[in-house]
Amino acid sequence: MSQQSRRSFVKTTAAASTAFAFAPAIGRAGTSANAKMGACVVGANGRGGDHINGWLGDDRTEIRAIVDVDEDVGNKRCEAIEKKQGVRPKFYTDMRKAFEDDAIDVVSTATPNHWHALTGIWAMQHGKDAYVEKPVCHNVHEGTALIAAARKYKKMCQVGTQCRSSKACIEATEFVRNGGIGECNFARGLCYKRRKSIGALGDYAIPSNVNFDLWSGPAQYTAPKVTRQRFHYDWHWQRNYGNGDLGNQGPHQTDVARWGLGVNAHPNTIVTYGGRLGYQAERKDPNYVDAGDTGNTLVSIYDYGDKCIVFETRGLDVSNSADEELNTLFQSTKGNKIGVVFYGTDGYLVQKSYSHCIAYDKDMNVVKEFKGGGDHYGNFLGACESRNMADLNADVREGHLSAGVSHLGNISYYMGEDNHVTAAELKSALKGVKSIDDDGVTADRTIKHLEQNGVDLGKYPISLGPVLKFDPEKEVFTNNDDANRWLTREYRAPYVCPKAADV
Ligand SMILES: NC(=O)c1ccc[n+]([C@@H]2O[C@H](COP(=O)([O-])OP(=O)(O)OC[C@H]3O[C@@H](n4cnc5c(N)ncnc54)[C@H](O)[C@@H]3O)[C@@H](O)[C@H]2O)c1
Repeated sequence: MSQQSRRSFVKTTAAASTAFAFAPAIGRAGTSANAKMGACVVGANGRGGDHINGWLGDDRTEIRAIVDVDEDVGNKRCEAIEKKQGVRPKFYTDMRKAFEDDAIDVVSTATPNHWHALTGIWAMQHGKDAYVEKPVCHNVHEGTALIAAARKYKKMCQVGTQCRSSKACIEATEFVRNGGIGECNFARGLCYKRRKSIGALGDYAIPSNVNFDLWSGPAQYTAPKVTRQRFHYDWHWQRNYGNGDLGNQGPHQTDVARWGLGVNAHPNTIVTYGGRLGYQAERKDPNYVDAGDTGNTLVSIYDYGDKCIVFETRGLDVSNSADEELNTLFQSTKGNKIGVVFYGTDGYLVQKSYSHCIAYDKDMNVVKEFKGGGDHYGNFLGACESRNMADLNADVREGHLSAGVSHLGNISYYMGEDNHVTAAELKSALKGVKSIDDDGVTADRTIKHLEQNGVDLGKYPISLGPVLKFDPEKEVFTNNDDANRWLTREYRAPYVCPKAADV
């Protein structure tokens, strides 16, 4: 029975019999447990655990299925869920089987990135509402297809950018849009988060409890080996599956940046510089080759016409290399800095965490603080009940724009990977790029940061990507045909993400 028909069935039965309405929720058939939405979590390891807690913590849901291609992960989760909710969910390794189950109403997915869009599309094609983790897609065309599926099948599709449900972020971004820091056209997103080497590039065995064909799905298939030491999680730093921290943490912060600036489109000009740098110094081996192939130190500049976002990714040690202004704004001189700074004519606003933002005047006096989190899972369930897309705090289109910007930034990096530049060449090339950024100050800070981490820029130089012009409506690059091939990928049948027109 579909979600809508189940709900009307429940309404009718509940009206006819109060006994039904007050029956304990001990199972599906013929009890008020039918009133609950059946949840299915796809990808149950790290983040999947948070999804499970979200559904367990909400009276409106019962977890009826767990899907994981790692049998150990899936079975452990089923056991733990049974202890908490009294009913053991069914366990599947193939999501397509789970999606055939009429007892499932909502699907949430915390698989690796290369599976996100296809999981969401398949779920919605089977009549389920979908909660899809960020980045909502692995490339730009997948995001467009996911939106098309949500609209075609009239399904709720929420993206896992939970800041959208945070009280602090809701109020702070509204404050910026309403002129709280004066006119504001520029925001800087930061992911200063230490990421050590993931180990040497090599041939590593695939864990025997993992169905690697299903794990690889739409990505290139590398059996009988993988090239990274740790199977789970470290795929983030291999572009076949992940999108680096630019596409991992980036979609949280570029989302907040766009939201506060009121930008509701893709950028029209994109350039990225940086590299995967510093691991030779970290390992004290000049010939060391780390298994990752995404940038660990990147600066991406996104021009939206009258607005600009700069996103900085730093994976090396950051204790010494932030500048004084950032230290003051984040009220911290050491360690990771993950957030957004809005620069206004009358002051600054800093998103310091998911649930804490601070507004300053031009002299760095605190003028207002915003605190409090929110329930992003609950917001999704509310929209599933109301059937009103406008009730979603993070509709799929927002997710597409905020993942898309990271993908565009990565495309410039990947295309310019072999274009090595000196510091002087970098700064002179950036002069032509329209940006409300700081005439080389960000580049200077980045260079200083690399040097402080022992990077010999003569031997391991910075790469400068091409300045790409993008048509935000048509979603094509207009000055570089070669770049267009990065907007999608070659899919491996049968794990083919359809084009938007074919969903
Ligand atoms: N919103 C947030 O704040 C937040 C936080 C952490 C992670 N995430 C996102 O969650 C996702 C998962 O991250 P993670 O750290 O849990 O990764 P992980 O590698 O630890 O876990 C992924 C799980 O998915 C399973 N999997 C892979 N392919 C599958 C398939 N086809 N069907 C079913 N299961 C499959 C794997 O076996 C593994 O158990 C990432 O995309 C990440 O960006 C979001």
